[in-house]
Amino acid sequence: MQTQASLAAASASPAFSFSSFNFRDPKSTLFILLSFSLLSILLIVFLSSSSSSPSHSGPDPFLFPSHQTKRIIFHKTTQSDPAPPSIAYLISGSRGDWNRVLRLLLATYHPRNHYLLHIDPFAPHADRERLALAVQSNPIFRAAQNVDVIGKPDFAYFKGSSPVSFTLHGASILLRLSVKWNWFISLSADAYPLVTPDDLLHILSFLPKDVNFVNHSSYIGWTESRKLRPIIVDPGLYLSEGTEMFFATQKRDYPDAFRLFTGTPFFILSRKFMEFCVMGEDNLPRTLLMYFANTPKSLSSYFPTVLCNSRRFSRTIVNYNLLYNTFDKPFIDEPRVLNTSDFNGMVSSGAAFARKFQPSDPVLDLIDEKILGRSPESVVPGGWCLGEPANVTCSVWGDADILRPGPGSRRLEKAIVDLLSNGTLRSPLCKF
Ligand SMILES: *[C@@H]1O[C@H](CO)[C@@H](O)[C@H](O)[C@H]1NC(C)=O
Ligand SMILES: *[C@@H]1O[C@H](CO)[C@@H](O)[C@H](O)[C@H]1NC(C)=O
Ligand SMILES: *[C@@H]1O[C@H](CO)[C@@H](O)[C@H](O)[C@H]1NC(C)=O
Ligand SMILES: *[C@@H]1O[C@H](CO)[C@@H](O)[C@H](O)[C@H]1NC(C)=O
Repeated sequence: MQTQASLAAASASPAFSFSSFNFRDPKSTLFILLSFSLLSILLIVFLSSSSSSPSHSGPDPFLFPSHQTKRIIFHKTTQSDPAPPSIAYLISGSRGDWNRVLRLLLATYHPRNHYLLHIDPFAPHADRERLALAVQSNPIFRAAQNVDVIGKPDFAYFKGSSPVSFTLHGASILLRLSVKWNWFISLSADAYPLVTPDDLLHILSFLPKDVNFVNHSSYIGWTESRKLRPIIVDPGLYLSEGTEMFFATQKRDYPDAFRLFTGTPFFILSRKFMEFCVMGEDNLPRTLLMYFANTPKSLSSYFPTVLCNSRRFSRTIVNYNLLYNTFDKPFIDEPRVLNTSDFNGMVSSGAAFARKFQPSDPVLDLIDEKILGRSPESVVPGGWCLGEPANVTCSVWGDADILRPGPGSRRLEKAIVDLLSNGTLRSPLCKF
C-alpha cells in the first residue's frame, strides 16, 4: 500500500523511469523505498536550510508583522547607472512615543531602505501592537516588506551603557533581515530628517560605501573625564524593572591598552563596520564592549573608540555625524529643544537630521511642508511614486531605484564638500 502511494507520487516525477520495475522483486522495492526516503530527507534538509538562511526574513517570534503579502518590485537598473544605496534605520521610542515613531518612519521612508522599530519596556505592550498594526495596515509597507517591529524590547538608559547593547542588538537584527543595506542609522523618536529620503540616498550614492560619519575627538578634558572615569553598573543590563543607575565610589584610571575617543550618541555607520562590531572575529569590539559596560553614557564613546583603535577602520571616518543640534550651555550633554525659530538655522546647516523636537511641535509640520513635501499620515514622495505631481499619496508605485533629489541634496552636498575641502574626511584626529 505504502509502495503504491510512493509510486503514484513518483510517476509524476520526470526524473525517474519505472518502466522496467518489477513488483515481485523485493530488492528493487527496497531500493525504491530507500531512494524515496533519501529524496524526502534531502528535500526536508534543503527546505529547512533555506528557511534558516540568514539572508531570509523567515518568521521570527520576536518580530512582527510576520505575514506579509504582495511585494513592490525592484527593477534592475542598467549597468552604467549604479543602483542607489540603501539605509538600515533603527527607530526607537518610549512610553507615549509610538505615534512619533510612526511619523519618523513616514518621514524617512523609502522602499529601498530597511526599518526596525522599537518601543522600550517603559511603554505598555499595547503600544508595540498598535505600531505593528499601523505598519501592517499600510499598503506600501506591506508591499515593500521592509518595516519590522521588535516584539521583545530592550532597556536603553541614556545615562548608562545599555544603549550600546541595544544599538548592537538592533544592528544584528537588521544585518539578518536584509543583505542589501549599506549604512546604519539609529534615530530616537525626538529626531527628524531635514532632507528627503531621495536626497540622502542620492548624496550617499557618490560616497565610498565604507565611510562612517562619526564625531570624534581624542581630547580628554575636565568634562570628558567626568564621563570616562566613574564606574557605573547599568540596571538595564540585569534588572527587569526600571531603576536608578548604580555608581561605584571609586574612579578608574585611563586605559593604556587602547586610546579613548569621545563623540556624540548619533552616527551613521557603514555595514562593514557594523558587521565588524557584531561578528567580533577581531576581539577589539568585544573587549571595548566589556570595558564600556561600566562607563556612563558610553554610546557616545564606544563607536569612536572602536573605529579609531582599529587599523582596518581608522581611515574610514568623517568627523561629522550630519546631525544638527544646539546646546544651551557648553559642557551640557542633552541638546536644546528646537522650535520654529530654529528652522532657518537648521536648513542652512545642510545637516541631514536634527534633534531634539517636542512631540507634534509646529516646526515638524513646517519641515513636512517646506522640506519633505509630505502630507500628514503619508510617506515622503520620491522618484518611486508615480501618479500626478499634485497627488502626493504615493498610491501608484514605480521603480524603487529611481531617485528624484531636490534642494535638500544640494544643501547636503555643500556641507559634505565643505568637510572634504577642509580635510575633515579621513580625519587626522584619529591618528595617535
Ligand atoms: C560634530 O562635528 C561637526 C563638524 O566637525 C561640528 O560642527 C558639530 O558641532 C559636532 N557636534 C557635536 C555635538 O559636537
Ligand atoms: C524657541 O525657543 C527659544 C529658546 O528655547 C525661545 O527663545 C523662542 O522664543 C522659541 N520660539 C518659538 C517660536 O517658540
Ligand atoms: C491619487 O491617486 C490615487 C490612485 O490613482 C487615487 O485613488 C486618488 O484619488 C488620487 N488622489 C488625488 C488627490 O488625486
Ligand atoms: C571650511 O573652510 C571654509 C573656508 O576656509 C569655512 O568657511 C568653513 O566654515 C569650513 N568648514 C568647516 C566645517 O570647518
